Amino acid sequence: MKYRELGRTGWQASEISFGAWAIGGSWGDVSDKDSLAALHAALDGGVNFFDTADVYGDGRSERLLAKLKKERKETFYVATKAGRRLPKQTPEGYSRGNLTSFVERSLRNLDTDTIDLLQLHCPPTEVYYMPEVFGILDDLVKTGKLQHYGVSVEKVEEALKAIEFPNVQTVQIIFNIFRQRPADLFFAEATKRKVGILARVPLASGLLSGKITRDSKFAKDDHRNFNRHGQAFDHGETFSGIDFETGLRAVEELKKLAPKNVPLAQLALRWILEFPAVTCAIPGAKRPAQVVENIAASGLPPLSAAAMKKIRALYDAEIRPVVHPYW
Ligand SMILES: NC(=O)c1ccc[n+]([C@@H]2O[C@H](COP(=O)([O-])OP(=O)(O)OC[C@H]3O[C@@H](n4cnc5c(N)ncnc54)[C@H](OP(=O)(O)O)[C@@H]3O)[C@@H](O)[C@H]2O)c1
Repeated sequence: MKYRELGRTGWQASEISFGAWAIGGSWGDVSDKDSLAALHAALDGGVNFFDTADVYGDGRSERLLAKLKKERKETFYVATKAGRRLPKQTPEGYSRGNLTSFVERSLRNLDTDTIDLLQLHCPPTEVYYMPEVFGILDDLVKTGKLQHYGVSVEKVEEALKAIEFPNVQTVQIIFNIFRQRPADLFFAEATKRKVGILARVPLASGLLSGKITRDSKFAKDDHRNFNRHGQAFDHGETFSGIDFETGLRAVEELKKLAPKNVPLAQLALRWILEFPAVTCAIPGAKRPAQVVENIAASGLPPLSAAAMKKIRALYDAEIRPVVHPYW
C-alpha cells in the first residue's frame, strides 16, 4: 500500500481506502460478520482511512468501525458525515443546534471523544455560500469534538466554492472513469490550496468491476434497484448517473483495454491513482475478497500514456455527452 498526504492535516492516508456505505445499508443484505471481516482485511492490507456517515444503516456503519477500533491496535482514521439526518434538506437545517447534535451522535456511535474528519454530507448548494456554517465547524474543532472537517459534494461548482473556506481540508467527490469532469479544473485548484480529494463511487457502484450484466438482479433495498432514476437521492450516486445500457456498452469497450490478468475493478482504481491531486479512492466493499482485489490496485504499475488516452477517448465518445454537464 502506498500513502498520500491528506490535505494539510499532516496525515498520510492509504491511496486505496475503504468506503463504508454498503456495510451500513442501502446495498441489499450484508451481514455484520462479513462486513467486519472486510474491515479487518482492509487493515491487514494497509488501509488506514475509512469513510462512513451517520446515516449509513442509521449508524450501523459507524458502530462497526468502533468495533474494529476495539479489536485492533493499529492507528487508523475515520471520516464521517453529517447533514443527511435532516428530515428535509434545507440550508436552515445546517444550524449550530442540528450540527452539534449530529456530531454528538456520531461520537457515541464511533465510541470516541473526537471525530478525525467530519464532512458535510452533500448539503444544498446554498450552504456553500453560508460562512456561518463553516464557522460552526471551526467552533466544533476548537472544542475538540472534531480534529478536521471537509465536505462531500455533488457538483464541481460546489467543490470550487467549498475550498474558498480556509479550513476545509478535504473534498469528497464522485470521480471515476465514467465521471471525469472533476479533473478538468477542480483538481488544479484543490492542489493549489493543498486540499485533499477523496474519490468516491470509484467503481460506479460496481459497474466498473465488469461483473454486472443486463441480467443482474439487485435486492429491493439495494439503491441499484430503488434509485436508478434518482427516486431516493441524487441519481449520480447510483451507477455514477449513467443509464444502465450505456454503462454496460462502455464497460465492454473498457474490458478490451485492461492489461492481461488485471481485473477491471483494478484498472478502474489504478486509473484514479494516476491523478496526483487525488489523495485516495474509497471503494466500497462487503467482503474480504473485494477488499484484497481493490487494494492490489495500489501495487500495479502506472497505466501507460496510451491507455490513459484511450480511456479518455472512450469517455469523450460515449459518456461525456450524457453526464458531463450535470455534475
Ligand atoms: N454522498 C456521499 O457522500 C457518498 C455517496 C456515495 C458514496 N459515498 C462513499 O463512497 C464510497 C464508495 O462508493 P460506493 O460504495 O457508492 O460505490 P463503489 O465503490 O463504486 O462500488 C462499491 C460496490 O462495488 C462492488 N465491488 C467492490 N469491489 C469490488 C470488486 N473488487 N469486484 C467486484 N465488485 C466490487 C460492491 O458491491 P456488490 O458486491 O454488491 O456488487 C461494492 O459495494 C461509499 O462506500 C461511501 O463511503 C459517499
